[in-house]
Amino acid sequence: MLSTYVFDAYGTLFDVHAAIGRHRGAAGADADNLSQLWRTKQLEYTWTLTLAGHYFDFWTLTERALDYALERFPSVDRSLRATLLDAYRKLDAYSDARETLAGLKARGARLAILSNGSPGMLASAIAAAGLETLFDAVLSVDAVQVYKPRSEVYALVTNNFGVKPREVGFVSSNRWDIMGATNFGFRTFWINRSELPEEYESFPPEQRLAGLADLLTQN
Ligand code: LAC
Repeated sequence: MLSTYVFDAYGTLFDVHAAIGRHRGAAGADADNLSQLWRTKQLEYTWTLTLAGHYFDFWTLTERALDYALERFPSVDRSLRATLLDAYRKLDAYSDARETLAGLKARGARLAILSNGSPGMLASAIAAAGLETLFDAVLSVDAVQVYKPRSEVYALVTNNFGVKPREVGFVSSNRWDIMGATNFGFRTFWINRSELPEEYESFPPEQRLAGLADLLTQN
């Protein structure tokens, strides 16, 4: 049993496609294409800007990525922009998120989020999902102004809790984030809900799990 479990936010605790899910009818036939490109561009901007030595917060990049996706899929009504952004601030948590977090907390684990998300959007998503009481810390890359998978980001956890990387279980559904966390020295748990193929073979997770609830049964 590890003392500290740290969760990625977007894609791991919160379903990034829940925003379009609530407005699929209004968005039309390209709804899912729009949502996929929105996510792809949002992440791409974090990597390219970090490589170039620049930082714009994750909310700004989320807006810019949606603007790009709307340009690419003109069949989607642009007037949905504000509605989709509002939904992104109140994403659904995955159905097993609460029970998993509560179960780990009941065993005495400390819980945290470590996310690219800016503090405001993280607070909004956590409140909308009713998860406020479960976390000992909500850590944002905003404190170091570089994005995952830079080591400075993962060091926010060890600095905050005064622990060594091997004392931390890091949970993410983003395989590239697991790569960064494994590289840093965390014990890593890859949540692979849709049976995606392995990648980043040199940085394997400690466990591959089909859902968050497996954290309770397999540890
Ligand atoms: C996050 C990104 C990976 O929450 O979605 O850090």
